[in-house]
Amino acid sequence: MRFYENPYISPKEEEQIKKGAEIIRNGGVVAFPTETVYGLGANAFDENAVKKIFELKGRPQDNPLIIHIAKKEDVFLVAREVPKNAEILIEKFWPGPLTLVLPKNPSVPDIVTANLDTVAVRMPNHKIALKLIELSGVPISAPSANISGKPSATKPEHVKKYFGDKVFIIEGEVKIGIESTVIDLTVSPPIILRPGGISKEMIEKEVGGVDVLAHSDVKVAKSPGVKYKHYAPDSDVYLFMNRKDILRFLESERSNFSDKKVLVALFKYVGEEGEKIKLMGFDIVVSGRTLEDFAKNLFNLLIVAGEKYDVIIFEGVEERGIGLGIMNRLKKASKKVFY
Ligand code: TXA
Ligand code: MG
Repeated sequence: MRFYENPYISPKEEEQIKKGAEIIRNGGVVAFPTETVYGLGANAFDENAVKKIFELKGRPQDNPLIIHIAKKEDVFLVAREVPKNAEILIEKFWPGPLTLVLPKNPSVPDIVTANLDTVAVRMPNHKIALKLIELSGVPISAPSANISGKPSATKPEHVKKYFGDKVFIIEGEVKIGIESTVIDLTVSPPIILRPGGISKEMIEKEVGGVDVLAHSDVKVAKSPGVKYKHYAPDSDVYLFMNRKDILRFLESERSNFSDKKVLVALFKYVGEEGEKIKLMGFDIVVSGRTLEDFAKNLFNLLIVAGEKYDVIIFEGVEERGIGLGIMNRLKKASKKVFY
């Protein structure tokens, strides 16, 4: 599944990367594309620079950041120890959308790891991200480039919407669309803390059984507490597992929704039910033709449709492969999940 993209960097890209690297070296913050989502990066070894990331995002201090490196062996700059299973996963999936939680090297400032004795690290598979880290000459700590609690940015214009002119943005394309898989290798069996681009199935093939964090699997998320609020767009999101239930819901809510702008996002095709929904006067969009497509569109849909619609209704997908990551984000974005 690992791919290497065309490494050609255009003169315009190079100019932006150079400027970004200079900002990072001078203790500033830069938004840059990775293969998963946009990151908001700073020198991981510069406490003050990292502090700026937390301030810009309004991120709680107890939520640690991922450190991005450009060479596999640089894992030792931030981790104290690299266990055998980590080595196997690094060989197989780096560069790529897999973040490893490892014992922390004392050289990493506590602000990055929120005082934990573990550190999260990954090598992104994106020519711009890799070149930026290389030219900066330091590992870059970067959360997703969104205001805390909002959907992650996958395009330069999303970053601009969130931060205006407060951060320099390197333009580039995001390929996957949802954040990396985060796996904690300091426990046995390892546990997936956040599903993403590298699936549980792919990991288990390499290192055997792994657990998945239970609360990423909540069946019904009502109004999530502020602390756990995630990916929340400006509209009410509802998640359904099948189309018949969407139709029934729309029928029962018809009077409530009469003065609301409602968008229904169906997976793969519009179909018969989709046509019926249109006749009822609601807007329809296809969330994606494939799971990969859906993942890539997801945050753009939440951000862009979030500006226009009061209500967004999603048809869910099977929780397999990247589908697990998609459903994890959708559940967290939803006001209510209907099973
Ligand atoms: O794809 C991605 O991972 C993107 C791009 C920019 O690389 N980054 C990203 O970062 O999604 P962020 O901060 O939005 O999410 C990082 C996740 C959080 O859930 C955080 O709690 C977890 O990783 N994390 C970071 N360090 C950790 C640690 N030491 N132990 C456990 N979880 C950790
Ligand atoms: Mg995030």
